[in-house]
Amino acid sequence: MKSLFSSVFFIYLACAGLCAHAQDPQAIRTLAASCAACHGPAGNSLGGTATLAALNQAYFIQRMQGFKDGSVSATVMHHHAKGLTTEEIADLAAYFAQQPRQTPPALPKQSFLGRQ
Ligand code: HEC
Repeated sequence: MKSLFSSVFFIYLACAGLCAHAQDPQAIRTLAASCAACHGPAGNSLGGTATLAALNQAYFIQRMQGFKDGSVSATVMHHHAKGLTTEEIADLAAYFAQQPRQTPPALPKQSFLGRQ
Protein backbone atom coordinates (compact mmCIF):
# COMPACT_ATOMS: atom_id res chain seq x y z
CA MET A 1 0.00 0.00 0.00
CA LYS A 2 2.80 2.32 0.87
CA SER A 3 4.46 1.73 -2.49
CA LEU A 4 1.16 2.32 -4.29
CA PHE A 5 0.88 5.63 -2.47
CA SER A 6 4.42 6.62 -3.40
CA SER A 7 3.91 5.76 -7.06
CA VAL A 8 0.69 7.75 -7.22
CA PHE A 9 2.43 10.60 -5.44
CA PHE A 10 5.37 10.35 -7.83
CA ILE A 11 3.05 10.49 -10.87
CA TYR A 12 1.34 13.49 -9.28
CA LEU A 13 4.69 15.23 -8.84
CA ALA A 14 5.89 14.34 -12.33
CA CYS A 15 2.66 15.61 -13.80
CA ALA A 16 2.45 18.78 -11.71
CA GLY A 17 5.09 20.55 -13.75
CA LEU A 18 3.86 19.41 -17.14
CA CYS A 19 0.10 19.09 -16.72
CA ALA A 20 -0.82 21.83 -14.27
CA HIS A 21 -1.72 24.33 -16.94
CA ALA A 22 -2.89 22.03 -19.72
CA GLN A 23 -6.57 22.54 -19.04
CA ASP A 24 -7.89 23.32 -22.49
CA PRO A 25 -5.59 21.89 -25.18
CA GLN A 26 -7.82 23.15 -28.00
CA ALA A 27 -7.62 26.75 -26.76
CA ILE A 28 -3.84 26.52 -26.59
CA ARG A 29 -3.62 25.04 -30.10
CA THR A 30 -5.70 27.95 -31.39
CA LEU A 31 -3.46 30.42 -29.57
CA ALA A 32 -0.33 28.68 -30.86
CA ALA A 33 -1.70 28.84 -34.41
CA SER A 34 -1.43 32.64 -34.19
CA CYS A 35 2.35 32.23 -33.79
CA ALA A 36 2.63 30.01 -36.89
CA ALA A 37 2.62 32.91 -39.36
CA CYS A 38 6.10 33.84 -38.17
CA HIS A 39 7.39 30.82 -36.23
CA GLY A 40 6.19 28.12 -38.66
CA PRO A 41 3.74 25.21 -38.29
CA ALA A 42 3.85 23.74 -34.73
CA GLY A 43 6.73 26.10 -33.98
CA ASN A 44 9.01 24.78 -36.71
CA SER A 45 10.35 27.91 -38.33
CA LEU A 46 10.82 27.98 -42.08
CA GLY A 47 13.69 30.40 -41.63
CA GLY A 48 14.01 33.98 -40.44
CA THR A 49 12.51 33.55 -36.96
CA ALA A 50 13.34 31.33 -34.00
CA THR A 51 12.07 27.73 -33.92
CA LEU A 52 9.79 27.30 -30.92
CA ALA A 53 9.34 23.51 -31.25
CA ALA A 54 11.04 21.56 -28.44
CA LEU A 55 12.20 24.80 -26.83
CA ASN A 56 13.04 24.60 -23.13
CA GLN A 57 9.95 25.69 -21.16
CA ALA A 58 11.84 27.82 -18.61
CA TYR A 59 13.69 29.63 -21.41
CA PHE A 60 10.44 30.19 -23.34
CA ILE A 61 8.72 31.66 -20.26
CA GLN A 62 11.73 33.84 -19.43
CA ARG A 63 11.82 35.27 -22.97
CA MET A 64 8.06 35.84 -23.14
CA GLN A 65 7.94 37.56 -19.73
CA GLY A 66 10.87 39.71 -20.85
CA PHE A 67 9.02 40.70 -24.04
CA LYS A 68 5.94 41.40 -21.95
CA ASP A 69 7.61 43.66 -19.38
CA GLY A 70 9.90 45.25 -21.98
CA SER A 71 13.18 44.04 -20.41
CA VAL A 72 14.04 41.98 -23.55
CA SER A 73 14.41 44.05 -26.70
CA ALA A 74 12.20 43.05 -29.60
CA THR A 75 10.77 44.27 -32.87
CA VAL A 76 7.34 42.61 -32.79
CA MET A 77 7.26 40.30 -29.76
CA HIS A 78 6.44 43.07 -27.24
CA HIS A 79 3.13 43.40 -29.01
CA HIS A 80 2.44 39.64 -29.07
CA ALA A 81 3.51 38.96 -25.48
CA LYS A 82 1.56 41.85 -23.97
CA GLY A 83 -1.77 40.30 -24.90
CA LEU A 84 -1.00 37.02 -23.12
CA THR A 85 -1.62 36.15 -19.46
CA THR A 86 1.07 34.46 -17.34
CA GLU A 87 -0.97 31.25 -17.53
CA GLU A 88 -1.28 31.39 -21.33
CA ILE A 89 2.50 31.88 -21.59
CA ALA A 90 3.04 28.81 -19.38
CA ASP A 91 0.54 26.81 -21.47
CA LEU A 92 2.25 27.87 -24.70
CA ALA A 93 5.66 26.97 -23.22
CA ALA A 94 4.35 23.47 -22.41
CA TYR A 95 2.71 23.13 -25.84
CA PHE A 96 5.77 24.14 -27.86
CA ALA A 97 8.11 22.06 -25.65
CA GLN A 98 6.09 18.98 -26.69
CA GLN A 99 6.27 19.68 -30.44
CA PRO A 100 8.90 17.62 -32.28
CA ARG A 101 11.60 19.67 -33.93
CA GLN A 102 11.68 19.08 -37.68
CA THR A 103 14.34 19.88 -40.21
CA PRO A 104 12.96 22.59 -42.48
CA PRO A 105 12.34 21.52 -46.09
CA ALA A 106 14.88 22.79 -48.59
CA LEU A 107 13.82 26.20 -49.78
CA PRO A 108 13.53 26.62 -53.58
CA LYS A 109 16.47 29.03 -53.49
CA GLN A 110 18.68 26.35 -51.91
CA SER A 111 17.55 23.62 -54.34
CA PHE A 112 18.57 25.71 -57.32
CA LEU A 113 22.02 26.29 -55.90
CA GLY A 114 22.82 22.58 -56.32
CA ARG A 115 24.03 21.86 -59.86
CA GLN A 116 23.12 24.82 -61.96
C1 HEC B 1 4.75 38.92 -36.73
C2 HEC B 1 5.65 37.80 -36.54
C3 HEC B 1 5.61 37.06 -35.21
C4 HEC B 1 4.52 36.48 -34.60
C5 HEC B 1 3.07 36.42 -35.08
C6 HEC B 1 5.02 35.86 -33.38
N1 HEC B 1 6.38 36.05 -33.27
FE1 HEC B 1 7.60 35.39 -31.75
N2 HEC B 1 9.19 36.32 -32.61
C7 HEC B 1 9.15 37.08 -33.76
C8 HEC B 1 10.42 37.78 -33.93
C9 HEC B 1 10.79 38.71 -35.08
C10 HEC B 1 11.22 37.41 -32.82
C11 HEC B 1 12.62 37.96 -32.43
C12 HEC B 1 12.39 39.07 -31.38
C13 HEC B 1 11.77 40.33 -31.99
O1 HEC B 1 12.43 40.97 -32.82
O2 HEC B 1 10.60 40.68 -31.64
C14 HEC B 1 10.43 36.45 -32.03
C15 HEC B 1 10.90 35.82 -30.90
C16 HEC B 1 10.15 34.93 -30.14
C17 HEC B 1 10.65 34.17 -29.01
C18 HEC B 1 12.10 34.14 -28.50
C19 HEC B 1 12.82 33.00 -29.18
C20 HEC B 1 14.27 32.89 -28.73
O3 HEC B 1 14.87 31.83 -28.99
O4 HEC B 1 14.79 33.83 -28.12
C21 HEC B 1 9.63 33.46 -28.51
C22 HEC B 1 9.66 32.51 -27.31
C23 HEC B 1 8.46 33.76 -29.33
N3 HEC B 1 8.82 34.66 -30.32
C24 HEC B 1 7.21 33.24 -29.12
C25 HEC B 1 6.09 33.57 -29.87
C26 HEC B 1 4.75 33.12 -29.56
C27 HEC B 1 4.40 32.18 -28.41
C28 HEC B 1 3.91 33.67 -30.49
C29 HEC B 1 2.40 33.52 -30.59
C30 HEC B 1 1.64 33.91 -29.42
C31 HEC B 1 4.73 34.46 -31.38
N4 HEC B 1 6.03 34.40 -30.97
C32 HEC B 1 4.24 35.17 -32.48
C33 HEC B 1 8.08 37.18 -34.64
C34 HEC B 1 6.79 36.79 -34.37
